[in-house]
Amino acid sequence: MKPIRVMSIFGTRPEAIKMAPLVKALARREGVESLCCVTAQHRQMLDSVLDIFQISPDYDLNIMEPRQTLSTITTKCLLGLEKVFQEARPDLVLVHGDTSTTFSAALAAFYGQIAVGHVEAGLRTYDKYSPFPEEMNRTLVGDLADLHFCPTQANRDNLAREGITKGVFLTGNTVIDAMSTTVRPDFRFSTELLNHLDYAGRTVILVTCHRRENYGQPMANIMTALRRLAEDYPQVELVYPVHLSPVVREAAEKYLSGHDRIHLIDPLDVAEMHNLMARCAFVMTDSGGLQEEAPALGKPVLVLRRETERPEAVAAGTAELAGTEEEEVYALAARLMDDPSAYQRMAHAVNPYGDGHACDRIADAIAYHFGLREAAPQAFCP
Ligand code: UD1
Ligand code: UDP
Repeated sequence: MKPIRVMSIFGTRPEAIKMAPLVKALARREGVESLCCVTAQHRQMLDSVLDIFQISPDYDLNIMEPRQTLSTITTKCLLGLEKVFQEARPDLVLVHGDTSTTFSAALAAFYGQIAVGHVEAGLRTYDKYSPFPEEMNRTLVGDLADLHFCPTQANRDNLAREGITKGVFLTGNTVIDAMSTTVRPDFRFSTELLNHLDYAGRTVILVTCHRRENYGQPMANIMTALRRLAEDYPQVELVYPVHLSPVVREAAEKYLSGHDRIHLIDPLDVAEMHNLMARCAFVMTDSGGLQEEAPALGKPVLVLRRETERPEAVAAGTAELAGTEEEEVYALAARLMDDPSAYQRMAHAVNPYGDGHACDRIADAIAYHFGLREAAPQAFCP
């Protein structure tokens, strides 16, 4: 029998981290031919992930340009993927999450009448401008997809409310699968600073901030609060691997440079990132992925956004919405340092997002959909 041809498509760092273990799981499956196509919406940050997980894409659209707009990403992906699909003729296209690559790839597959599987389906804030443009991207992909792989029950409930109940599987998030290969107690960093930080004696705060809806005033507020924290608390070592977006780099340089305990460093590779997270005191971030990873490592997370599509860690008490106002961001971080019991209440490991077997469930669900297996996979249960 002809193998099922499954093409995983991704373009940015977080998609790559979360799809890498799935590409590998599919490649191990009998009856499945696993192809990988990258749009390279991110170039350096994508290649770093491909290196760590040793993935060589079958197709590379190489679309990234400096200060790219949503329209250029979308049109370049659509045009590039049309050609790829004509040549490769996949039976199923897998996309991940909510980036412009995700939406464009799902739309291109729909135009080619190719089935779409959406990994990390069903996350919602119900605010179309926050996160922007991700909330609309993932909602539209929900309509385009035939298979929906939901990390959590709440994600599945969101889809059900929109009338999407067929082809829905509760799998857990593949990021937890990825972490099982990266976090090690004896890890040595190639970024020398990270080997020398006194993680036990100082308060090492890991920061990331890159979202489009935070550009401008929200980012200025957040960064001013971060600088005040470093100035007011002499034990603070703030480590901020700065995203390669020029908008973000300019803001970080303007508000945070020139302080000896604020370490603005280049993006870390994913193994370094996960191991730094495992050692830090707490995390301040507007990232989606970090909100899932830090709770699994028992690290409190202050979410630098007005709302989150990942309420599970907030409900479990390990994450808190800090918003984007200077005073609130400052006050919540200060409380974690001033009040050890507040810190302890947040610093416990929880795994609402996965158990490390999401990729096997997704591969099983695909096999089930194409009649290669009789039973649907067991749902993820935290
Ligand atoms: C994108 C996603 C966002 C995701 C984020 C993960 C969209 C609209 N946004 O946002 O959902 O959270 O990735 O990081 O899909 N750049 C480089 N090298 C790189 C990567 C980026 O130089 O390896 C620079 C380029 O100038 C590029 C800019 O960063 O134009 C912005 O990249 P883009 O993918 O458009 O936006 P992100 O903010 O990264
Ligand atoms: N990450 C990384 N290096 C960094 C910053 C983040 O490897 O310098 C990882 C992080 O651990 C997570 C993912 O990238 O797995 C999150 O990506 P990002 O914050 O860019 O996007 P989001 O998750 O917000 O879409």
